[in-house]
Amino acid sequence: MKISIIGTGYVGLVTGTCLADLGNNVICLDINEQIIEDLTKGKIPFYEPGLEDLIKTNLDRGNISFTSSYEDAISFAETIFICVGTPEDDQGSADLSFIQDAVIKISDYLKDKDRHLTIFLKSTVPSGTCSSLQDKFDELLENSQSKVVVASNPEFLKEGSAVADFMKPDRIIVGTDDINVSELAKRLYRPVNWKSNRLKIVSIEAAELIKYSANAFLATKISFINEIAKLCDAVGADISEVRKGVGLDPRIGNHFLYSGLGFGGSCFPKDVKALIKTFTKNNIDTKILKAVLDVNDNQIDYFINKIHSVYTPKELKQKTLCVWGLSFKPETDDIRESLSLKLINSISGEVKHINAYDPVAMTRAKDSLSNIDNITFSRDSTEALQGADALVITTEWREFWNPDLESLEVLKDKIIFDGRNILDKKLLEENKFSYFGIGR
Ligand code: UGA
Repeated sequence: MKISIIGTGYVGLVTGTCLADLGNNVICLDINEQIIEDLTKGKIPFYEPGLEDLIKTNLDRGNISFTSSYEDAISFAETIFICVGTPEDDQGSADLSFIQDAVIKISDYLKDKDRHLTIFLKSTVPSGTCSSLQDKFDELLENSQSKVVVASNPEFLKEGSAVADFMKPDRIIVGTDDINVSELAKRLYRPVNWKSNRLKIVSIEAAELIKYSANAFLATKISFINEIAKLCDAVGADISEVRKGVGLDPRIGNHFLYSGLGFGGSCFPKDVKALIKTFTKNNIDTKILKAVLDVNDNQIDYFINKIHSVYTPKELKQKTLCVWGLSFKPETDDIRESLSLKLINSISGEVKHINAYDPVAMTRAKDSLSNIDNITFSRDSTEALQGADALVITTEWREFWNPDLESLEVLKDKIIFDGRNILDKKLLEENKFSYFGIGR
């Protein structure tokens, strides 16, 4: 099938590359010409395991190409996926302007043609958006022979495992009431839906809401467990034991029950806020989601207070902290809403120095933290420990899970603040380290 992808951000590039790998012919469009030039050489604008190799393979096969020209992309396509960003606007709602631009560009091209196209909208959008886009296309193409049908097809990819999530989806949601679009979706997704049927055809409004509800529910689990972790600290229980005991109930499940610094990234904070806005627009009060955000917003302060409970302000001013982890989670260089960066921004003025290290997010973090003058970016995790008084773990990269005890001995105060609960507390305490986790 000939497919065009509008937007080569994280969702568009993964979707386009995986569809190309499944044998389709794919053109990915982005208005950023530099990104397109790099992609044509097989260079991707962010870190995502396995993606660059898959792009190179499909470039060699001739299954994928990149363009900045709407004409190239639309004239080629039998089907279009819109995958542009819907960032938070200044009111906390989803900003739909990139989608609206795409609708206008597609209509401009189609208006003097006779083409029938299906457009799957993958961008995360509030309920009602696909229907209003359909109305917009109908209006713009009123005097044209061309016709566009808009369907909702939200994505459920996780950064760091996006290729695997696409190839082995736990669900594929398509919102449409058009039988031809349903059949098209079945054909498109057949290779990844073959082992067991994961494709659900639902109404457009339900598809849009499934996406937000899924993210909001996962965010709710995280804020819930972070609140229980505070109680663990107070009563002397270990959150890891509580989590495992609770998660054994299959009705609850053991995923997304890890306490830590709270949820970050480009999705949960933005999507929970946008869903609250949708509630408000519909005159419904959402007490749960407001509490989820509130708990999350305060979680970093809860962690920083642990540092304050150990050091007086005067002592802290003499201390160098080693910070391991800068990305919002492991296996990505994405620093959007990174709790690590929030911590550094918040505490840098209170400490003497910060030695920071991340396996892949250093370049992005350096740019973002350029306003801070008492930070050094180290070449590796061991170098970052040199000269430090205490270690702060903010992202659970695999290489941080089992540090060599000898290398930790250089910490002058032998204190570790573990914002992701990944280290062996018992072992560290046996070796005379002071250990502060979240809820343990
Ligand atoms: C999330 C969803 O998991 C995907 O299903 C969805 O497709 C995606 O958003 C999206 O809407 O595009 P992602 O933002 O990549 O994916 O990251 P997650 O793995 O969900 O983690 C989000 C945040 O929650 C991270 O800051 C992570 O550290 C935190 N988290 C996660 C916890 O604090 N505890 C947990 O138990 C799990």
